[in-house]
Amino acid sequence: VRKIVIGLLGAGNVGTGVVRILQENQADIERRLGGAVAVKKVLVRDPSRSREMVADELLTDNPAEILEDPEVRVVVELIGGIEPAYTYVMEALSRSKHVVTANKALMAVKGRELFAEAARRGVSINFEAAVAGGIPILRALREGLASDRIEKITGIVNGTSNYILDAMTRTGARYEEALAQAQEAGFAEADPTLDVGGGDAAQKLALLTLLGFGARVSVDDISTEGITRVRPFDIQAADELGYVIKHLAQAVRTPEGLILRVHPALVPKGSIMAGVHGAYNAILVESRAMGRSLYHGRGAGPMPTGMAVVSDIIELCRSVFAFDSGRPPPEAFARVEDVKPRPLDDERHENYLCVHVTNVPGILGRVATCLGTNGVSIKRLQQDPQGPGTPVDMVIVTEAIDEADLTAALQRVDELDAVQAPTHRFRIVDPDPLESR
Ligand code: HSE
Repeated sequence: VRKIVIGLLGAGNVGTGVVRILQENQADIERRLGGAVAVKKVLVRDPSRSREMVADELLTDNPAEILEDPEVRVVVELIGGIEPAYTYVMEALSRSKHVVTANKALMAVKGRELFAEAARRGVSINFEAAVAGGIPILRALREGLASDRIEKITGIVNGTSNYILDAMTRTGARYEEALAQAQEAGFAEADPTLDVGGGDAAQKLALLTLLGFGARVSVDDISTEGITRVRPFDIQAADELGYVIKHLAQAVRTPEGLILRVHPALVPKGSIMAGVHGAYNAILVESRAMGRSLYHGRGAGPMPTGMAVVSDIIELCRSVFAFDSGRPPPEAFARVEDVKPRPLDDERHENYLCVHVTNVPGILGRVATCLGTNGVSIKRLQQDPQGPGTPVDMVIVTEAIDEADLTAALQRVDELDAVQAPTHRFRIVDPDPLESR
């Protein structure tokens, strides 16, 4: 049989999944590909330590054994982070090797340089596993929806954050317990602040923006908030109001430019996003011809992510077989527009507010005046005062209001003497409103 030789950089969580799928599904893969995929070497930090799934003689701690081996046609990068992954991937591309990676940080931050080098060498970089684990969302945007115009992408793209919020909502688990469980299951990044701080979701949103809108944005320009401010109180209050708190990443095309946001939001209980549980991810795409389409599945973990990596390997091997006499098509993202997301000031949302006040006469009026003088109208109000002088969590749902007006109003509210802590605010978002569900 025809054979393609590959080398793996890294044998951690995802690497183990990749090796396992290549072994367990070998016969199916050979049949579908019309050829075999052979792993020649696996780069690890300590080759003297045996791995469950990899034969000892394949292990090496010398990257040159993979990067400089002319027999290796595809390099699979599973180290994560920017360095040394970037140096290795650049080296592989410059030697005209195709690359498959699951590394969203690398693709989001260094995509420009990598795509340029790939185009120069006539090779490809596949990175399906970098966004939403096993869900073939990049393939859907690149192929299935290739003829459509994407208007909006709304995603739950961080499995760890969804797992934590879902556990807190469904079982009343504490934040720390839920995080520990997510880490144990292998969903979380090595540095979990990337998950719970929203950075991982922002990197994924940058890649979804690249595929969906053909635009390159800097991750630093994406307004990003993680889940660490969400308290059990907010989850409970949202529940009473008919909402669930989810961590959303959203990209919206507007005439004035792209809106990009990553933040916790209240979504209606009956909506699609409210039904995404555990470490599952979901991406709701709105495109002109198709309307809404939903991509849902396991967005993290060694096997789903490993599966996406192996599918990328198969796709590349197919093109290598098909184009062996010529050259595979160069990567399409070498020439894309750099864009800055639009400022969020005039974005309108309903909002959930939780104002921490002391229960003193007139405080409700003063809070309402701060809001009202800045044009913020109150839609619902809920509070549970425990008696004069005690602290009260005043939960307010606002009518839709511009971001800039809300920010000004909250600044005034937080300056009031009786307000004890910065006001909690989450946007209320309905990504699939009922009238067109
Ligand atoms: N840490 C990520 C998550 C998985 O929790 O979704 C890899 O993207």
